[in-house]
Amino acid sequence: MAEATHRRRVFSGVQPTGGLTLGNYLGAVKRFVAMQDEGEAETIYCLVDMHAITAGWPGREALRAATHELAAAFLACGLDPARSIIFNQSQVPAHAELAWIFNCVARLGWLNRMTQFKDKAGRDREAASVGLFAYPNLMAADILVYHATHVPVGEDQKQHLELTRDIAAKFNNDFGAPDFFPLAEPVIEGAATRVMSLRDGTKKMSKSDASDMSRINLTDDADTIALKIRKARTDPEPLPGSVEGLESRPEARNLVNIYAALADTTPQEVLAEFAGRPFSEFKPRLADLTVATLAPISQRMRELMADPGELDRVLGEGADRAAAIAEPILAQTYDIIGFVRSRRMATGA
Ligand code: TYM
Repeated sequence: MAEATHRRRVFSGVQPTGGLTLGNYLGAVKRFVAMQDEGEAETIYCLVDMHAITAGWPGREALRAATHELAAAFLACGLDPARSIIFNQSQVPAHAELAWIFNCVARLGWLNRMTQFKDKAGRDREAASVGLFAYPNLMAADILVYHATHVPVGEDQKQHLELTRDIAAKFNNDFGAPDFFPLAEPVIEGAATRVMSLRDGTKKMSKSDASDMSRINLTDDADTIALKIRKARTDPEPLPGSVEGLESRPEARNLVNIYAALADTTPQEVLAEFAGRPFSEFKPRLADLTVATLAPISQRMRELMADPGELDRVLGEGADRAAAIAEPILAQTYDIIGFVRSRRMATGA
């Protein structure tokens, strides 16, 4: 549906909230690189620094450092500024401007249903920032200000993307502009769209988990990775011969999914190789595979982070290219709404 009237364009975002996990890598960034390399569409990847202050301000230096670290991670994982637009959100004001419009389109009832808000706000919802509540509207603006049609994300962002489609449809309908905003499609693909905690197979692997043993960070060294995988919770049974055998074994399923995603294969293939083997055999193989993938990434990240000026240059250049797409779309949006624009604003028509 999105492609009928809109050119294929890929957009996604990651928050610079300090340290990417293996979950972010397998669920999102690895897919970003794959979509860039396919070369079938323009790819736009954003460090969403304005989202990163919705749950509290980490401090000026910490936010700047997290932004540089994430930029380095994007590049070290294989994103290429010559083939993708890479920038941070706050450098392109059109995101925040369109988000305001969407604050007037989205309904309170819709936002009240967002499970991520409920999780992040916790028990004391009255104390949550308005920004945290309106977070999905800014996310919709991120996507729609580029008329993006495809959004690679992990499973946990599905509800936000459904909301983005609802916002697009309601805007198009209420403002009499059929097909103006595309109904962007989530791209939730691969064996690891929901990587779980290494300590509890029913909880998502997350940067904010209190226990560092629950996650693998992109910057963990080989010994730490091996230790975390060795200590990962499992059950005493050997690996089954088919994926059905993983059904009530969340920890085993998680490790098999991680292996499959890292090896670019399927869980079924992994089980074909390891059926009947104990975790004491599987875990060292998984650790080796993880280290082999992450060691070059963290090495490259260290080199890139040594030159923050170069990272700033990449982000600045990306922001100029992003703004050149976003500003005409925002101008058309203002025009549809009926805002008087007597000063010059790019129309790109
Ligand atoms: P963030 O920064 O929390 O996560 C970035 C991406 O990583 C994915 N992810 C995971 N995938 C698999 N397993 C996990 N354990 C795991 N943890 C995180 C997330 O699904 C996400 O794709 N709201 C977004 C950021 C955002 C955005 C956007 C995304 C802002 N605007 C527009 C797409 C389009 C977020 O919280 O990302």
